[in-house]
Amino acid sequence: MMPDASALVRRALAARRFSYAPYSHYRVGAALLCADGRVYTGCNVENGAYSPSLCAERTAIAKAISDDGGLDDNLNAGLTQGGSAGRDWQSYFKAIAIVGAPAERQGSDLCTPCGVCRQVMAEFCAPDFKVICATTDEAGEIKELRQWQLKDLLPEAFSL
Ligand code: THU
Repeated sequence: MMPDASALVRRALAARRFSYAPYSHYRVGAALLCADGRVYTGCNVENGAYSPSLCAERTAIAKAISDDGGLDDNLNAGLTQGGSAGRDWQSYFKAIAIVGAPAERQGSDLCTPCGVCRQVMAEFCAPDFKVICATTDEAGEIKELRQWQLKDLLPEAFSL
């Protein structure tokens, strides 16, 4: 499925409104597109102890996995393998859009995923998973849109 990049960016912008970022004042939103068209959104969720903070990308991925990608008829499948109810996440997750900027601005930065998020993507997403980053103007209109494949953002990724 070719992602509609600008529609996905708009979903990420909407999710950014829920960002909890009282420490960095840097608000990020993400929208994760799945093979069936479902979109899981996420925002960064910070913590006063700093290291428990979650990036928007990992929030969206954890929401999708903990929701079983919307499956509800297969609750016990895969549990013996330590899997999550039978989903092949690498083929289910197709693309993620990310927008981020300081709180007082709408989408002025090109916010690329941090190294930890790239490693988490490598766990659940295929090498050709699309990472879409955009800047917007104050009205939320897209100014610049960049797209990469995960394999180019995290070459030689570690895996067990
Ligand atoms: N952040 C994200 O949510 N995603 C990124 O791609 C980069 C950084 C968050 C983490 C932290 O809450 C804030 O942005 C500043 O680093």
